Amino acid sequence: ASHSIAIIVGSIREGSLNRKVARMMCGAVPDFDCRIIEIADLPLYDPDLDKETPEPWARFRREVAGVDGVLFVTPEYNRSIPAALKNAIDVGSRPYGKSVFAKKPAAIVTASPGALGGFGANHHLRQCCVFLDMPVMQQPEAYLGHISDDKFGDDGQVTDEGLSKLLHSLGHAFADWVKLIRAGREALAP
Ligand code: FNR
Repeated sequence: ASHSIAIIVGSIREGSLNRKVARMMCGAVPDFDCRIIEIADLPLYDPDLDKETPEPWARFRREVAGVDGVLFVTPEYNRSIPAALKNAIDVGSRPYGKSVFAKKPAAIVTASPGALGGFGANHHLRQCCVFLDMPVMQQPEAYLGHISDDKFGDDGQVTDEGLSKLLHSLGHAFADWVKLIRAGREALAP
């Protein structure tokens, strides 16, 4: 595949519903290489430590830098994004002027057992993306509510037909979005 995307999952717990959604999304983005980039091992961002960059930060930055687009799949913690995800964003955004997120097309999926589907986290993350200069896919929006283990089989596959359809349409829309942004950039290049 000529295009690649990374999925960053906002939950670091084993058995994460968002990770299950992310695994499904990986298979749902047509003609793209897709992989999950891990964030659990990133030390808390401290500019002082960047004088001798910790290896997990370097690894994370390298992996994000190498992809054409970033898909965030995250739970909502206290109506915002989990600290682990915010930390990953902070790590990738620095040193100043060297953000690995800049200009990369993005999409945001939030999933929750609750009814609101992580709406608050979804929009807090959009606010970060403004400053990160990431063009974020606007539609379709993805606030996945009432997500539970019941919607997945033992193999992690989605058993809920409606959810499966939704994830596939999101995957297709994101593939188109990444291609559109990339084509636009190539058309503008000197
Ligand atoms: C939550 N949860 C939660 N859910 C929600 O819809 N809105 C919220 O504001 C919060 N706040 C919150 C804070 C903290 C600290 C935790 C641990 C949890 C519940 C959350 O959606 C639920 O635990 C999900 O299963 C977390 O996603 P993963 O880990 O399954 O991907």
